[in-house]
Amino acid sequence: MRKFITLVLLLAAAMTSRAAEPVMPTVKGEPFIASDGKHINAHGGAILLHDGTYYWYGENRGDGTPGKGQKGVACYTSTDLKNWDNKGIVLAVTDSVGAPLERGCIIERPKVVYNPATGKFVMWFHHELKGVGYGSAYSGVAVSDSPTGPFVHLNSGRINPGIYPENLPEEYRKIQWPKDMEWWTPEWRKAVEKGMFTVRDLDGGQMARDMTVFVDDDGKAYHVYSSEENLTLNIAELDSTYTRHTGRYIRIFPGGHNEAPALFKHNGTYWMITSGCTGWAPNEARLMKADNIMGDWTQLPNPCRGEGAKTTFDSQSTAVAHFGDRYTFMADMWNPKNLADSRHLWLPIKFDADGTPYITKD
Ligand code: DGJ
Repeated sequence: MRKFITLVLLLAAAMTSRAAEPVMPTVKGEPFIASDGKHINAHGGAILLHDGTYYWYGENRGDGTPGKGQKGVACYTSTDLKNWDNKGIVLAVTDSVGAPLERGCIIERPKVVYNPATGKFVMWFHHELKGVGYGSAYSGVAVSDSPTGPFVHLNSGRINPGIYPENLPEEYRKIQWPKDMEWWTPEWRKAVEKGMFTVRDLDGGQMARDMTVFVDDDGKAYHVYSSEENLTLNIAELDSTYTRHTGRYIRIFPGGHNEAPALFKHNGTYWMITSGCTGWAPNEARLMKADNIMGDWTQLPNPCRGEGAKTTFDSQSTAVAHFGDRYTFMADMWNPKNLADSRHLWLPIKFDADGTPYITKD
C-alpha cells in the first residue's frame, strides 16, 4: 500500500511539474503587448532559455519609419512565455561616425546562443554598413557576460575568405566565369549551381544576409545564412567559442533563393524551414531535411497547410523555438510601412506519423 501511495505521489508530482512547464502561446498577428504596454518591438529574432528565464531577442525598429530609426537589438524576458518585460536595447547602434554600428546601419535577424565553455552569450546578426543598402552582406558577432547585455561588438564581415566550401567539386573551383552573364538564363543557372558566385567572392569571403545560429546536441554551433546574392544557403561551422568560423562550410540548394532559415532537430533529423526571396512580401515557405547537418539536404513540399499556406499565413519564418517536447514556428508578419508594428506569428509545429513537420493556423 505504501509503495502504491508513493507511486501515486510521484506521478502527481511529475504531472504537476509537466503542467507547470511554460507553453508558448499561439499568436496570430494580434498586437503582442509587453509589460510596458507596447507591442513587442523585436523582429526577425528568436528565444533563448537560460536558467529558467526566456530571452527574446530581435530587431528594434525604432518608431517604425522605413529605413530609419533602428536602435539595435532588443531583448524582452519572460518566465512563462506569455508575459514579457522590455529589457531595452542590448546591442546598440552608435553615433560614432564611421563605426561599423553607426546609426543608419542595418541590423537584422539577431540570434543569441550561450556558450557554457566561455560563459559568454554570443550574438550573430546580419549587418549592413550605413549608406550601402544591402550591399555589404556582412555577418556581425557580439558577446556579453549577461543575457541582457550590453553586448560588445567584436567584428563584422563576410565569411571564410579564401576557403572553398567542402562540397564544391574540385573541377568547379578553377572555372573562369564570364563577368557579365545575363541573369536567369539556363546557362546562368548552371553557372550558379557550379559555384560562379562562390568563386567570385572567394578572396573577400562569402556574402551573408538572412541567418540563424544552431547549437547541436554535442555543443557544436553552426551559422546558416543566405549567400551568393541570396541564391544559395551556406552552413558554416563555428569554433568552440561560437565567435569565429572554423573554415568548414557547405553550400546547399544553389540557386534555390532561400531566405529566413529556421533550423531545428527532431528525433535525430535536422529540419529547416525557409522562405523564398520577395523582399518584405510573404511567400510560400519551404522545408528541407538532413540526417547530418553538413549534408546532404533534401527539399520537401511547403510545411504550411490549409488556408493561407501559400503565403505562410502572411508571414516569413524567423526561428523554431524548441522547449521541452514542444516546437513552435516563429514568424514575422512584416509591415514595410511601419516595421516596428510588424506582427508576430507563433504556431505549434505538428508532426505527421512519419515525423514530417507541418504547420496549420487553426
Ligand atoms: C527579406 C529578409 O528576409 C528580411 O530580413 C529583410 O532583409 C527584407 N528581405 C528586406 O527587403
